[in-house]
This record gives sequence, structure tokens and C-alpha cells, in this order.
Amino acid sequence: MAQPVVQIQQLQKRFGKFQALKDITMTVNAGEVFGFIGPNGAGKSTTIRTLLGILKKSGGQATIFGKDVWSDAVAIHKRLAYVPGDVYLWPNLSGGEVIDLLLKLNGQKHSALTDTLIQDFALDVTKKSRTYSKGNRQKVALIAAFSTDADLYIFDEPTSGLDPLMEEVFQKHVLALKAAGKSILLSSHILSEVERMCDRIGIIREGQIIETGSLEDMRQLSRTQITVTTAQDPAAIGQLAAVHRFNQTGHKATFAVDSEQLDAVMTALTPLGIQQLQSTPPTLEDLFLRYYNQEEA
Ligand SMILES: Nc1ncnc2c1ncn2[C@@H]1O[C@H](COP(=O)(O)OP(=O)(O)OP(=O)(O)O)[C@@H](O)[C@H]1O
Ligand SMILES: [Mg+2]
Repeated sequence: MAQPVVQIQQLQKRFGKFQALKDITMTVNAGEVFGFIGPNGAGKSTTIRTLLGILKKSGGQATIFGKDVWSDAVAIHKRLAYVPGDVYLWPNLSGGEVIDLLLKLNGQKHSALTDTLIQDFALDVTKKSRTYSKGNRQKVALIAAFSTDADLYIFDEPTSGLDPLMEEVFQKHVLALKAAGKSILLSSHILSEVERMCDRIGIIREGQIIETGSLEDMRQLSRTQITVTTAQDPAAIGQLAAVHRFNQTGHKATFAVDSEQLDAVMTALTPLGIQQLQSTPPTLEDLFLRYYNQEEA
């Protein structure tokens, strides 16, 4: 298999006595969109700032393109584009001037793609940066990043200020990067965005990665919600070990099933005469809340 684009092993970061990162181990592979999610203060931005060489690690390893993120930062940055959640711009330059300056600083040129992006994001580039709202400042940084020809794109909550229409535009351009074989690390609190776009997800809590994998893998580890109506009394289903939170009203039952045991539960249901059945796989939100709250661990 090709070398991972981002490789982080047991990364640690202390701020004085406070250990913000305890054990971050994760990889971003070439050509994938990796979603980085976790509650406020979990360490997402600290991990990203360490990757960018803005912060120096206290322990562990972190490489991008096989190079050390601290000592080889200059070489890495030639192939990387980054958009932070809080975008600060030069207040006296217009949006258009800032975009061109950001591109120039990255050794890039204003291209036809840049114009398309300005149109897609519906940004008035003639206004001074200081007059821009949070969402408009984010658009400036996004336009510059998306028109940069890089191999890795790192977005740290880039859509926190965007309206739903612009969120769509953002997703469209991320998927275009992915189609072009680029790698993307995306931290986000918008779980529908992560669910829709990410090939794999890392969940971070209190400075530790507590789960990584594809959404499918994570669903496998979780429970599917079932609502079923049977011809015969379904009470016996509630006795199965794989069935949880069993509730019955007449011949209608609702319960959760360990996803890997679905088959056995269906086999037990069939002789009862299934009349109606609805199954709902866990959403990323269910998974997130479960990991976050440590429920049903
Ligand atoms: N420069 C710093 N000095 C001291 N503590 C810091 C510093 N930067 C971050 N921290 C602390 O490290 C922890 C992780 O912060 P971080 O910004 O990485 O969280 P996050 O996961 O990005 O959260 P959010 O979702 O709110 O953006 C927090 O407790 C934060 O207060
Ligand atoms: Mg953050």
C-alpha cells in the first residue's frame, strides 16, 4: 500500500502542565477525505496546528508526505493548503486582493478556477476585508485554498460560518478535490457534512483518538434500531442476548440490535410472521453521542 499522506503516532502536546494531546494516532491515506470530529476542546485544532508546524510536539511522531512536520515544515507547506476556522485577513485589502496575495504567498496564480470559485461562493471581492462577516472571511480563505494546487488540504471547521447554500458549495469543491485524487483532512462539527463526504473518520476526546475507521465499520460496532409488527406475539425476541431496550405494544415491538447479530434476530423473527419491519442504522450523530457520553460502552 502507498505511504500514508499524514501519519501521526502517539502524538503528545503539553501546554505547561496541561496535556492537551495525550495519544493521537491516526493516518490520512492518499486520495481520501478524513473526518476529524470530537467535542469542543478535545484537541482537533491543536493536532492540526502541530501538523502545520505552528506548535511543537511534546512527544510522539507526526509526518506529512513522509517528512517530519516540524523540521521539514517548509518543504511540506509547498504541497499543502490550509483553512482555519477563524480567518484573519488584512483589513485594508479588498477580498480580491487578499485572495491574490494568499495565492502568491503559496507560489500560485489567480486562475480560471479562482474566478469560478468566486462565483460559486458568491463573494463580492471588491469590498474591503474589514467589512466582511465571518462567513465572508471564510469564503476568502476557502477560495484561495481551493484554487491552490496542493496534494493535501487541511480544513479546521471551515464551514462554521457558512449558510446551508454555501455549505453545499464547499462540499462540492471538496468532492472535486477528492475526485482529482487529493487528500483532505477535515475537522468539523457538522456531522451531516462528515457523514456525506468522509471515507474514514477519527473521533477524538480529551486528547485521545478513541475510534478511527469508516462509517460502515463504526456502524458495524453499533446497534441498529428495529420496529417490527408480527402475526404472533413477539415477546420471545426480547429475551435474545443481541436485543436491547425491548419495548412491546400488542404485536408491535421496538428494540436495538447489535449490528453483527442482525442475521440471528431476523431468523428468530421470521417464524413469528413479519408483517411490517423498519430498520434504522445508527447515524454518525448517534455514534458520536455514544462515544462522547460513553453510554452503553
Ligand atoms: N496555546 C494554548 N495554551 C494553553 N492551552 C491551550 C492552547 N491551545 C489549546 N489549548 C487547550 O488545549 C485543549 C484543546 O484545544 P483545541 O483548540 O485543540 O480543541 P478543539 O478540539 O479544536 O476544540 P473546538 O471544537 O472548540 O475547536 C483545550 O483544553 C484548550 O484550552
Ligand atoms: Mg478547534
